[in-house]
Amino acid sequence: MTDRHQHALDAIRGALAGEPDPQQAMEATVTLLSTHLPDYTWTGIYLLDGNELCLGPFVGRPSPHTRIPLGRGICGAAAAEKATIVVDDVNADPRYLACSIDTRSEIVVPIMLDGDVLGELDIDSSRPAAFTADDRELLEKVAALLAPGLAGRARP
Ligand code: SME
Repeated sequence: MTDRHQHALDAIRGALAGEPDPQQAMEATVTLLSTHLPDYTWTGIYLLDGNELCLGPFVGRPSPHTRIPLGRGICGAAAAEKATIVVDDVNADPRYLACSIDTRSEIVVPIMLDGDVLGELDIDSSRPAAFTADDRELLEKVAALLAPGLAGRARP
């Protein structure tokens, strides 16, 4: 990973280590990601509630997609497939649910524990193909750090 990615990971690891409250942990995570990574135009967390993804903390403009059924959009696809999805050009992906006309690329990383999806990290960028292998590695590590704290949380 680049120094920038490593610094973001170190900062998030430090913030989560002393944070027992899942809401505070999620807020710190989205804030630190958007502060360290300038390409992250919209940075949010969705939490699984039954068969829907429910929007939690985010940094960026308000999204119309506050609840997304499993299987809908890129968010719903990543949760259903239990796998990271990187979309270099959102306008070329028929699954894409538009949040902002400025968005050009997106990465969605499931937050999982013991094979169960708890939620996901969703990042949009106004730059095409903004998300590299370093972003995937960083965000998958962040998802793993968040997962234990979210497993015991109250429902959204
Ligand atoms: N683009 C997402 C919807 C969420 S917004 O980006 C915040 C999707 O296609 O699932």
